[in-house]
Amino acid sequence: MVSRIKELLGKMSITEKIAQLSQLSADYFQKDGVTLTGPAGKQQITSEELHSVGSVLGISGATRARKIQENYLQHSRLKIPLIFMADVVHGYKTIFPIPLGLASSFDPELVEKTAKIAAKESANAGLHAVFAPMVDLVRDPRWGRVMEANGEDPFLNGSLAAASVRGFQGYGTGELDRNHVATCVKHFAAYGAAEGGREYNTVDISEWQFRDQYLEGYQKAIETGARLVMTSFNTLFGVPATANQKLMRSILRDELGFDGVLISDWNAIGELREHGVADSQVDAAVKALKAGVDMDMMSFAYFELAQKLEKENQISQEFTQLLDEAVYRVLKLKEELGLFEDPFRGMDSLKEEENVLTEDNLKVAQKAAEESTVLLENKNNLLPLRADAKITLCGPLAHESDLLGSWSWKGDTVKNVTIATALQDKFRNVTVLDDDLTEGVIDLDILKQKTAGSEVVIAVVGLRSFQSGEATSMVKPCLPSEQLGLLKALNKTGKKIITLVITGRPLVLTEVSELSDALLLPWFPGSRGSQAIANIIVGEVNPSGKLPMSFPRSIGQIPVYYNSLRTGRPLTGRSSIDQENKYLSKYIDEENSPLYCFGYGLSYADFKIKKVTLLDNQIAEDGEVNLQVEVKNESHFDGQTVIQGYLHQCVAETAQPERELKMFKKIMVKANETKIVDFRIPASRLAYTHQNLIQKVDCGKYLLYVGFDANTEEKVSFEIV
Ligand code: BGC
Repeated sequence: MVSRIKELLGKMSITEKIAQLSQLSADYFQKDGVTLTGPAGKQQITSEELHSVGSVLGISGATRARKIQENYLQHSRLKIPLIFMADVVHGYKTIFPIPLGLASSFDPELVEKTAKIAAKESANAGLHAVFAPMVDLVRDPRWGRVMEANGEDPFLNGSLAAASVRGFQGYGTGELDRNHVATCVKHFAAYGAAEGGREYNTVDISEWQFRDQYLEGYQKAIETGARLVMTSFNTLFGVPATANQKLMRSILRDELGFDGVLISDWNAIGELREHGVADSQVDAAVKALKAGVDMDMMSFAYFELAQKLEKENQISQEFTQLLDEAVYRVLKLKEELGLFEDPFRGMDSLKEEENVLTEDNLKVAQKAAEESTVLLENKNNLLPLRADAKITLCGPLAHESDLLGSWSWKGDTVKNVTIATALQDKFRNVTVLDDDLTEGVIDLDILKQKTAGSEVVIAVVGLRSFQSGEATSMVKPCLPSEQLGLLKALNKTGKKIITLVITGRPLVLTEVSELSDALLLPWFPGSRGSQAIANIIVGEVNPSGKLPMSFPRSIGQIPVYYNSLRTGRPLTGRSSIDQENKYLSKYIDEENSPLYCFGYGLSYADFKIKKVTLLDNQIAEDGEVNLQVEVKNESHFDGQTVIQGYLHQCVAETAQPERELKMFKKIMVKANETKIVDFRIPASRLAYTHQNLIQKVDCGKYLLYVGFDANTEEKVSFEIV
């Protein structure tokens, strides 16, 4: 393998080497069926450059990909095949719930399964690598890209990141076979901490915080074998990530041992000029290469560097080595994918047809949507409804067919069933209100008349697909005011209200929750989302989703997340003291706690923790915490729940969160059944970042809170000795 690459390296001109390190959007190769995911301004490049380019992004479909590859190889001197990449974030054609929704399943196996399907669909449509998973830790719902993330907890994020890489890439000898694709973990690093939640904004967090909380997701994905990493748009430790030698060379390459391809984000190399750390494209290219960025996605800076080097006709040995290392990594990836043997890997339209959007895949999409939906309120057990319940359905999203969410460019919204249709299939008595009755100035008398015959109103509200994802920062993550107006009007009819909130981010739902008798959060649930929602409302499926991100009570609380560091003046939890004592860490006009905390989510069943037994409460530093949790389902509904364990370190060297998730398991407990569930937490998982930035475990006392969300009170104590 190495010999072929070495031979090629020996034959390549500077232009060919640098072009190999460049990725262009599909519109450079063909005109139609192209999706652009960043700013586009057509740059002129020569035919030699075009036919030496290393990679193309955003194309898909076996026939299209084959045509491009054929044409490219015909014109290319060295005939090094193109590698095809694209954003397959939560499904290729079969669209699963958005990643934040999938994270609500708290189920790594399910996440792995969805990634495996997405991999098979993409690999059979001519793709070789996907720009996923996104593992940026997120705490700020103003940032639109929280929809692509796994939420606010490092351990959950890391577990799901690893599951996703396993699913996309496959295991062991089967790795990167014809039904799998290489993954590109993004965005290195800490893009989720953009100040004020404003897209592309600065990130300025301490290295301690970065290591303690933000690093784990990337680390787990890399340990699991992710072949590529993408740089982030933001600045970190004062330097834009794409030119950040400390981040890319010391942390990513040396510490995390990443030896795959590091690709820039879209135009991120060129943007080093706007960041004010480079004075030209050439300067930007040199800085990125020095930082270890192997591939330039769409900035053309590497091309400009090639032109300069060709003109000068002299290149230092040091620089040649830098270039050769980068080209080596790109060629090695192509070799691993078998592209030299078969440049048309996955480019067979018949196989594509057989493999995409199959009924089996759609079934998994439905299950994933069922498991991702979070029941936030269910006053007086209003849900589930009888199949003959008299229902009035309304709201601007009841007839929406795009419930896919952003980053689902290949998803077909036309074939999707709307929530209205799915509910009409499940329930015999559904009256759908005309939109003009529920929009603008609402006539309460007419609304009362129209809902008079029904027992319950279902209102489908929320955000549209285009209101989440990249470049959708919001200062008011709330329901649009006219939708709140609709809920207020419905409330005045005196009818029971079930509110479904479609969203890609946590919203401030304080009023919504007061106005609703039941509140269901399907996120953007994907290709079979409507059917999943109908199954939950009728009770064929018992909801089991848990929040991976806290839902604020008020905008001003943002960021509010469960694992914030302890303060020297915490609330005591006793309201009289907390109210009287002015000098505590609190607001004078709002509570500290979120409206719905991390890990929260109701079920139709009633689960109780009966007993938590620690097998040993003196544990060696290299040992493990063994415990048994006895759970009872005290209801007549079968159901799944997630047992969660949160660590409290009594005394640490650096400030630590009051609680931090260290274990979780999704289990099924039948009606009236009691189950005993075993957990093993390796003591190494209790490591945290010390003042010297090293992660290690301390001897000392710990509490472990065990229950069904981050507020659980049940606890056991142990000691690391
Ligand atoms: C996004 C990346 C994405 C890339 C390619 C960028 O704008 O930040 O997440 O992978 O475009 O589509």
